[in-house]
Amino acid sequence: MPSRFTINDLRTAAAGGKRSAMLTCYDYTTARQLDGVGVDMLLVGDSAASVMLGHDTTLPVSLDYMIAITAAVRRGAARAMVMGDMPFGSYHASLPQGVRNVCRMLKESNCDLVKIEAGPDHVRLIGKLADAGVGVVPHLGLRPQAVSLLGGYRAQGRTAVEANRLVDLAVAAARAGAVALLLEAVPPEVSQRVVERVGVPVIGCGAGPACHGHVVVLQDLLRQTPFQPRFVPTVTNGSLIEMAGQYVSQVRSGAYPLKAHCYDMPEEQRILFAAPGTLV
Ligand code: KIV
Repeated sequence: MPSRFTINDLRTAAAGGKRSAMLTCYDYTTARQLDGVGVDMLLVGDSAASVMLGHDTTLPVSLDYMIAITAAVRRGAARAMVMGDMPFGSYHASLPQGVRNVCRMLKESNCDLVKIEAGPDHVRLIGKLADAGVGVVPHLGLRPQAVSLLGGYRAQGRTAVEANRLVDLAVAAARAGAVALLLEAVPPEVSQRVVERVGVPVIGCGAGPACHGHVVVLQDLLRQTPFQPRFVPTVTNGSLIEMAGQYVSQVRSGAYPLKAHCYDMPEEQRILFAAPGTLV
């Protein structure tokens, strides 16, 4: 039995400049295959709502469903660290609701870490969860659960003001006790600044080369989805095992992500963001 990749392994890899590979996964059989390929971390994302159930957004998926599929992935993953994902509405009503439901996810699925899409309002929840002993991973940047507020899926942090807010939130989340952060669809300058400021591993999903680990939706990598975001790497067509294996090699070698996979910040905003002082 291989020893489990843990948050300590992610920290050690990050400190040593080694990149860790994560893919989404939603079932036992696929988890076994991805585990065999050496994928370090499996995210049982609420993207299951789209790629497993055919919904337009991630919003309709329930906590019971997320717990059931996370437990299945856990059973299939001997080595990979498994991250459960809290669905929309399961932690937004109050602190006690959030703590109760995150504890349910951890106890009933046996996952290693729990991800929540976090805004400034969730910093207190992150602190409570850390106090309770939960390895909590705030998901910042593009938050697909906020699609009705954002009016679509767009890269975030592309202006200096937005970028500074994002960095401030990342720092607050790490100070509150987050064990790692996940940054989705932000320019590389922003993730670079977050990496410099937070002192915890940062996993990027379309967030550029500074991140310590990278994640993409498995079905996007396999080109099974109708549309793939620009940050999805190109791998040669083959079996699931071959394609996932190429992804792991690209992440580990630093061949992924390239500039073509990044969201840029307009030049004038980059200059403002680089200037000292916080614009808010
Ligand atoms: O649900 C998910 O798959 C995610 C990733 C896209 C980061 O949150």
